[in-house]
Amino acid sequence: MGHVDYKITIFEYGSGAIPETMQYSNQYTSNRDYNVFAIALLQGGGKNILVDTGMDLDDPVKQGLAKNFLDYCHSPQEMLATVGLTPDDIDDVVLTHSHFDHMGALEVYPNAQFYLQRDDLEAWEDIASDPKKALLMFMSVDAEDLKRARALEAEGRLTLLDGDVADLLPGIDVIKTSSAHSFADQLVVIRTPDGPYVDAGDVATRQGNILGVEEKPFYLPPAMGNAAPYGAMKAYDEIMAIVGDDISKVILPHDSYRADRMPYDEPKEGLKVYQLRKLGALVGRLPWRGVLPADCCG
Ligand SMILES: [Fe+2]
Ligand SMILES: [Fe+2]
Repeated sequence: MGHVDYKITIFEYGSGAIPETMQYSNQYTSNRDYNVFAIALLQGGGKNILVDTGMDLDDPVKQGLAKNFLDYCHSPQEMLATVGLTPDDIDDVVLTHSHFDHMGALEVYPNAQFYLQRDDLEAWEDIASDPKKALLMFMSVDAEDLKRARALEAEGRLTLLDGDVADLLPGIDVIKTSSAHSFADQLVVIRTPDGPYVDAGDVATRQGNILGVEEKPFYLPPAMGNAAPYGAMKAYDEIMAIVGDDISKVILPHDSYRADRMPYDEPKEGLKVYQLRKLGALVGRLPWRGVLPADCCG
């Protein structure tokens, strides 16, 4: 299979402190740690492709989410403007899963085709329609986004996928995971001249999920999620096999430590922009820098 010389840009569009117990399974602590929110832009072969949408800040629901637990949040329009694009320029959006911070701006991209795993949408539609399952909606999914997804499908702009797809787009494969974070996430494999990169979606949200942390040098899947850690661990085996154990080729949406190990531009306060493939070899292992004290963030 061929590759495409994709330019890979990561936009960290939001950040805020959350309990550390949500970052890693099995952490019994009251500490809080920073969480960032990121999406990736892939540019190559004449296409502008996003992995996930970010959040539509014109939507009152997203405004509420951003206000309540993020110190900063920037709109897709602001992110794209930093590289001279507008939402009209986006050709395709590969959705890793249905959570609001990944699929929360479907209405922003008027010319895009979207791709999502069918099982993820259907599981969330079941949950959204059943009050007994309301627990899982909390801080995960905006029910209106599910309706927006179906409207896009009716317009022929959303393709629901049933499993792995090789060459979904030029040089881009998707791999379906089961019960690894949401219900049917997809890993996005970006085949470039310097090897494949993987956008892990939230199957791994930060480097410590795969590499572990101090004194726990093993898989530590995020506690945030709707499925079980074992599914995530099996996905980590697959991700690391694809990238040849090079963690610097794994794109991690919520990794607040990315700024410690990669250069970035900050065109607006709280909006960090990284050019991934310019960087060459990066630090493989993250130094564990501890966590914020429990009373740091109110
Ligand atoms: Fe997320
Ligand atoms: Fe998620």
